[in-house]
Amino acid sequence: MLPTVEWTGDSVVMIDQRKLPSTEIYVTCRTAADVARAIKTMVIRGAPAIGVSAAMGIALGLSKSKATGTKQFTTEFQKTCDLMAGTRPTAVNLFWAIDRMKRAFAEAAQGGGSVDEIKARLVVESQRIHDEDVASCRTMGAHGATLVPDTARILTHCNAGALATAGYGTALGVIRAAAAQGKTIAVLADETRPFLQGARLTAWELVRDGIDTTVITDNMAGSMMRLGDVDLVVVGADRIAANGDVANKVGTYSVAVLAREHDVPFYVAAPISTIDLQTANGDGIPIEERNDREVTHVGSSRLTPVGARVRNPAFDVTPAKFVTAIITERGIARPPYQESLAALVGGRQ
Ligand code: MRU
Repeated sequence: MLPTVEWTGDSVVMIDQRKLPSTEIYVTCRTAADVARAIKTMVIRGAPAIGVSAAMGIALGLSKSKATGTKQFTTEFQKTCDLMAGTRPTAVNLFWAIDRMKRAFAEAAQGGGSVDEIKARLVVESQRIHDEDVASCRTMGAHGATLVPDTARILTHCNAGALATAGYGTALGVIRAAAAQGKTIAVLADETRPFLQGARLTAWELVRDGIDTTVITDNMAGSMMRLGDVDLVVVGADRIAANGDVANKVGTYSVAVLAREHDVPFYVAAPISTIDLQTANGDGIPIEERNDREVTHVGSSRLTPVGARVRNPAFDVTPAKFVTAIITERGIARPPYQESLAALVGGRQ
């Protein structure tokens, strides 16, 4: 399985997603600040992968702490959690993972756990978050594959694959599971301007797996649907509000509206950790605005004239009414999402 992010004992190693597909190199993070920088600069990206990395970054930073008493250690822990929380605002998996690390810290500290005991507990918790994510993706894939007919032509947007998770993927997990069942699958991968996660990462993953892959520019999706060349859409998510509104990579909303117009099912595959019942609807989801340069340039080549203003919202919100179903590791939620998501999440996330 593709190693997206790995704990080595004294570092966190990540494949550098900015360089794929032309170069396969790995970045070694030796401090929590290295991990935070890697998340911010997109060495690693994708909601679940960001959460797993942040958890490992916290475990890494604290494992190297020189604190001798729990008071100083607790202060360092809080600072490291804040550092991770400040990296990217939209994917709720980041905050979910930090909360899990905080709970693990509190449990270990309760009853007078030593600094070394707390350190060990943080490492265990980050590894659990990693392993659970892979398991969730596989179960989600099995649920989602039931929605995929044989000979399906599937459109996906951005990269919701092994690279965006601890392994296997959410939307690409559904595609992988359907292919593993022997179904003949053909994927249309939106290139996903401006960071090109679809053209670079999704296509790279699928070609490696021997799955039939065609890259299209984002503005071709509507035409493909009108021609009858798309049987279903499956995408990932960065945050799903309590009412089923879905934040995902910018451009997802347009795909969902087009899918509705052409009677194409629009599925979202995401782990329970992506569901944010504290946020009532999509209006409450913070949307990250990224650097102008991602839009004005491709590599070192400038595309736009100096003086033209640029917008670069990295995500958009697809209203729940366009979402046919939400695939999770605990099963498939259907509208009305207010009830079905609350039932799936239950008391535990
Ligand atoms: O900006 P990115 O590349 O982190 O955005 C990633 C996405 O929007 C993915 O579709 C989402 O995180 C789901 S990944 C399983």
